[in-house]
Amino acid sequence: MNASMPPPASEKAEYVNQMFAGIAHRYDLLNRLMTAGQDVNWRREVVALCRLPYAGRLLDVGTGTGDIAYEAKRTHRDAEVIGCDFTFEMMDVGRRKRAQYATRLPHAGQTDRVEFVQGDGLRLPFADGYFDAVTSGFLLRNVTDVDTCLAEQRRVTRPGGRIVCLETSPPPPTRLAPLLRFYMLRVIPVLGQLFSTGIGTQGKATRPRESAYRYLPQSTVAFLQPDVMARQFERAGFRHVSYVRKMMGTVAIHVGTA
Ligand SMILES: C[S@@+](CC[C@H](N)C(=O)[O-])C[C@H]1O[C@@H](n2cnc3c(N)ncnc32)[C@H](O)[C@@H]1O
Repeated sequence: MNASMPPPASEKAEYVNQMFAGIAHRYDLLNRLMTAGQDVNWRREVVALCRLPYAGRLLDVGTGTGDIAYEAKRTHRDAEVIGCDFTFEMMDVGRRKRAQYATRLPHAGQTDRVEFVQGDGLRLPFADGYFDAVTSGFLLRNVTDVDTCLAEQRRVTRPGGRIVCLETSPPPPTRLAPLLRFYMLRVIPVLGQLFSTGIGTQGKATRPRESAYRYLPQSTVAFLQPDVMARQFERAGFRHVSYVRKMMGTVAIHVGTA
């Protein structure tokens, strides 16, 4: 596949899985760099918007290295928090962060763990209505079927529970759009190449990392505008859907009620 082309739909899931396996070890660092550290605040906002009840259950789909899940555990020690992803290598990095987070919790013990479960966001391995809240961060533009992914999130959310989704959006049509596109399509791939060199995890054959940091901004520019996404949430059965835009409109947080 040409490194500057997005993968065809039939190869996308395999491409995405291998790509994240290849960049797992540098993913957190690059996230902080590319968002100037703002992603930490967005994850806090995502968890706050879940309005998790006491001893609630939260699922983070496409959890990657688990930053949303850990934020949920940090702020809701009583909660059962599960992160689910189909890329083992991303969750492996996430599992290693357990020690780092556990020491920050005053009474760290078994229940302070975030559980990681390997699974496909298009066929979630959980019972209907099990969760009070389902979150995702930068997942939807990577899946092959957004409608199925949202329908699955709806299925595992209890009636009245919440879905909260953090995702990038194409730059809105303002005077800043050319500058934002330049940053995404030219600067991010260079940052990715500079900072993602190193050894991959698990010795798994991976796609070139420079291709990953071309794919990620390209998939943002080609993704859905937030109002279109909001309608997809409604089609999946969520009510009271709303969203806020961040980072000059290039990131959106959607909220809905099951
Ligand atoms: C950009 S990363 C986001 C990680 C994390 N949520 C965050 O906020 O940083 C996208 C993650 O979605 C996962 N992913 C993509 N498609 C998936 C699918 N169909 N099922 C499960 N995970 C998927 C990838 O493996 C990757 O870890």
